[in-house]
Amino acid sequence: MDDGSSRRATLTRRSLLAGIGAAGGAGAMYAAMGVLGLAPTRETAPVRPSAGAGAPTPYAPPSRSDFSLRGGGGGGGAPATVLVLGAGVTGLAVAYELGKAGYDCTLLEARDRVGGRTLTLRGGDTVTELGAPGAGATPSAAAGETQRVTFGDGTYFNAGPARIAQWMVTLDYCRELGVPLEVFVNSNANAYVYTSGTRTRLRTARADAHGYISELLAKATDAGALDARLTGDDKALLLDFLSDFGDIGAAHSYTGGERRGFRVDPGVAPGTELGPPPALSDVLGLGLGRMLTMDAGYEQANPMFQPVGGMDAIVTALVGKVGAGRVRTGTRVTGITDRPGGVEVAIEGGAPLKADYCVATLPPHLMARIPGNLGAGVTAALATPIPMSAGKLGLEYGTRWWEIEDRLYGGATETDLDVGHIWYPSYGYHTQRGLIVGYYNTGPPAERYDVMSHRERVRRAVALGGEVHGARYGEEVVASASVAWRRQPHIEGAWVRWPSMEAFSVLQRPAGRVYFAGDWLTHLIAWQAGAFESARKVVTELHHRVLKEG
Ligand code: ALA
Repeated sequence: MDDGSSRRATLTRRSLLAGIGAAGGAGAMYAAMGVLGLAPTRETAPVRPSAGAGAPTPYAPPSRSDFSLRGGGGGGGAPATVLVLGAGVTGLAVAYELGKAGYDCTLLEARDRVGGRTLTLRGGDTVTELGAPGAGATPSAAAGETQRVTFGDGTYFNAGPARIAQWMVTLDYCRELGVPLEVFVNSNANAYVYTSGTRTRLRTARADAHGYISELLAKATDAGALDARLTGDDKALLLDFLSDFGDIGAAHSYTGGERRGFRVDPGVAPGTELGPPPALSDVLGLGLGRMLTMDAGYEQANPMFQPVGGMDAIVTALVGKVGAGRVRTGTRVTGITDRPGGVEVAIEGGAPLKADYCVATLPPHLMARIPGNLGAGVTAALATPIPMSAGKLGLEYGTRWWEIEDRLYGGATETDLDVGHIWYPSYGYHTQRGLIVGYYNTGPPAERYDVMSHRERVRRAVALGGEVHGARYGEEVVASASVAWRRQPHIEGAWVRWPSMEAFSVLQRPAGRVYFAGDWLTHLIAWQAGAFESARKVVTELHHRVLKEG
């Protein structure tokens, strides 16, 4: 992740996974599934989409019939008991999938709520943080501030995951679980980019960047500077392309145009365009490269989606399938012992629990602190990933002034301030109140907010957001809530970064009867899709083993 030098960290898969090579193992797993007859049937096999759209990882859920089919062949005859540590999306997905074949799963969750980082806040909720850490350091174990959320009816704040790409398995779960979806506006031409103290509509900044780049390239082509690279036909094709791409006309000069936007919108009258662009050096000086290409990223392309009513709809649906009675909240794991015939899990204030298998989905840096007998290599591997900071602030307003005055319906303003991204709501259009995400930041900017009280976060974020939106940005807030993920009890990080590939590989394998799962063990770190993919992998391997060994 680009969090070392820039004021605004980017969120790309490559950056989140800094330090990781290929995961490996999927091919072998699939081959093993085939041997056992678990590879997708014609009905379940994914249709391979056309190139560029990717293809989902093959998966066939375990089923009760697998046992009757295998029972006489020397394999295991019955579903096992499984202790699942953590009731975030990974743990719930593990229990849901194993439940399809009748496994008896119990989930142990240290927090008093399920969902892990899939946290949707509404009026009446509370948020308690750990005591403030030093910047970038481990948070204090002492309880910190508690916020009481006072959002109005219908307002919600996805303080964790908030957007889903079309290719992600998360959407398949939404379909299967009946979770209704709506569009999450991830990029909006009418929103702003704000850099070097200058606010520009995204559409204007994009028009200027495309226009000037096209002009430069066209003029270089006209002058023969690219003759060594281009045939005569290529030159003609390139100039045709640049003419459209940059709207530079036959003279190959960028002079602006309606793509920049209007001062007075067209109606009965033709409208008044914004006018000519700033000078090339001013456009380059805004440093907008990443902000103009954000939605070109594979994970960030429009349209993205969100569950109607809040991201926790996925959690609620999973709990409904798993059965609330299988989830023990407020249950802190204090020891994990792997034995030849089963696993024993010690919990605070209760008798140890036993099961045939365990799937541990806790954040690795927290699991590394839990005593047990999994071996020094496993403990060292669990301690390897580095927890990262990210934070979000929800600001509820009494009126949706951004819709009325800025004509902004969803999307984000990208900034070079430490608030990072400012998001406008992709739900509830034209209702009275609305919630802006006043900051979504990561890396060092997030660490700065980690150590603040909620009041200090609000004060700083509305001061900086006020540079973009003016005084009302601070004056009209009616309620707010913030989350610093590094300070969330039993989570202590937004996601992790792997400095070493070896540790990642170690934890892809079980330690005896203890399996590890989570987005942190995938190439989809910081996405629910990573949680689901990891859950599927472990469920497949565990089921395979139970069928074989009992
Ligand atoms: N999945 C995270 C996001 O969308 C990183 O911002």
